[in-house]
Amino acid sequence: MAQKKVSRQPEFVLPPPPLPSRLPLLGHSLALVRRRQDFFVDARAAGPVVTVHPGSRTLYLVNDLELARRILTTDASKYTRGELFERVRPYVGDSLPFVDGRPHRKQRRMIRPSLHRTAVAGYVDTMSGVANRRLGRWQDGDHVVVGEQFRNLAMEVVGSALFSFDFSESLLRDWHTITPWVPKGLFLRITAPYAWVERLPLPVNRRFVEATKWVRELCDRITDEHTGDATDLVSLLLDTVDPDTGEPVSKEQISTEVLGMLIAGTETIGSALSWCCMLLASHPDVQQRVRAEVDQVLAGRPCTAADLSALTYTRHVVTETLRLYPPLFFLTRTAREDVELGGFRIPAGSSLLLSPYALQRAPEYFPQPEKFAPDRWTQGGELSANPDAFLPFGAGLHRCLGEQLAMAEGVVILSTLLSRWELCPVNDETPRSRGVLLTPEPGRVVLRSRDVRFDSHRADSVLEERR
Ligand code: HEM
Repeated sequence: MAQKKVSRQPEFVLPPPPLPSRLPLLGHSLALVRRRQDFFVDARAAGPVVTVHPGSRTLYLVNDLELARRILTTDASKYTRGELFERVRPYVGDSLPFVDGRPHRKQRRMIRPSLHRTAVAGYVDTMSGVANRRLGRWQDGDHVVVGEQFRNLAMEVVGSALFSFDFSESLLRDWHTITPWVPKGLFLRITAPYAWVERLPLPVNRRFVEATKWVRELCDRITDEHTGDATDLVSLLLDTVDPDTGEPVSKEQISTEVLGMLIAGTETIGSALSWCCMLLASHPDVQQRVRAEVDQVLAGRPCTAADLSALTYTRHVVTETLRLYPPLFFLTRTAREDVELGGFRIPAGSSLLLSPYALQRAPEYFPQPEKFAPDRWTQGGELSANPDAFLPFGAGLHRCLGEQLAMAEGVVILSTLLSRWELCPVNDETPRSRGVLLTPEPGRVVLRSRDVRFDSHRADSVLEERR
């Protein structure tokens, strides 16, 4: 009997293999929620691309560095931003961090000047002033809740530098209680086993919607109260003509961009600084080296833009913190067309996940990955770092526009802090985080006043003179 010919299909018509341990009905939802960032680390062992099923949904997790970089950079036009941004966009509008294609290119071009290196240098005195004022209120022996403190600091910096807006203490308190529901609601939307879960009358869903509405109203107020004569982002946009319409950028659009900056530029840096303090508290040797550098470079005066390049070890501490705890521990994309990844077929419309957290803890790119070793960023350091696998700010088309601002803010705030305070751990706590951001909760450190006191009176008058 003639043998039936079996036609072998090319390998890339096959979907990626499923991640093991899929539960009936729930799929991988439970593991995603419970293991969070560790889910992505564990999943790397399953292959370069794997299929993840939160309930009945299908997501593709890209574990391979080269493929992840291809998605973010050379092949970026084949993808939209994905669920992380698309799920929140209907509630917050079309600001730069949420748009794609031509509007993205246009908005990025309009906003870039206010986040450029030279503009950021102009914000350093504001950062120093805010840090000096806020950290001056701390008391010896305080147990500081880092998440709240650094979120407030970041709000004040972005508020003053980009919008010329002073956040009152009561507004900051409201922000602190209301807005964490945005990343929590978003995480539920991405990990939920079924799409209808986001429509259930759950407290998390209600608070997510209320929080986005509250932030929207706050941004309208920031825009309305702006006097228009400053040299900040709002002024820049007020003076900009929309290249598509030939009309000035509308107040509504400016308010939307303010919202985008508040969402992208406060919780992220607040989270990074929080982890930085937790790490320094449990690594007194590293803390001592930062302090020595800060004392040598600043000698009790406030940090200026000219000091940033000399505070190299302090900068490496911020970088190493971002390696261990990238605030956005996973990124998302949606395929615009059928794509081939690592020999597998990903159909148009598919949702993709990739995890800076997992890649930044891979021993092949960062030996002894669990070790907090700022020296790996120094040439000739004992441990190495692969810069290609360092993705806390993403890469390519959507690479974070606030990277310069975030790094300057990290160095200024950390150097101001360690000029005055010694950080000690709170031993009985293991912080965890919730939502799409990696922020330590509760995350506390104990303060000890330093023997060599920071001259806060002098700092205030120096900053006053410069103004
Ligand atoms: C440590 C702090 C920060 C981290 C870790 C961070 C991380 C990121 C990441 C990963 C992306 C890309 C997301 C993607 O590719 O899907 C991004 C985009 C963005 N970030 Fe940041 N960010 C930080 C601070 C800031 C600050 C301070 C601002 C502004 C005030 C900012 C503004 C933006 C904007 C506007 C985008 C969208 C860029 C575009 O799509 O063209 N970020 N950020």
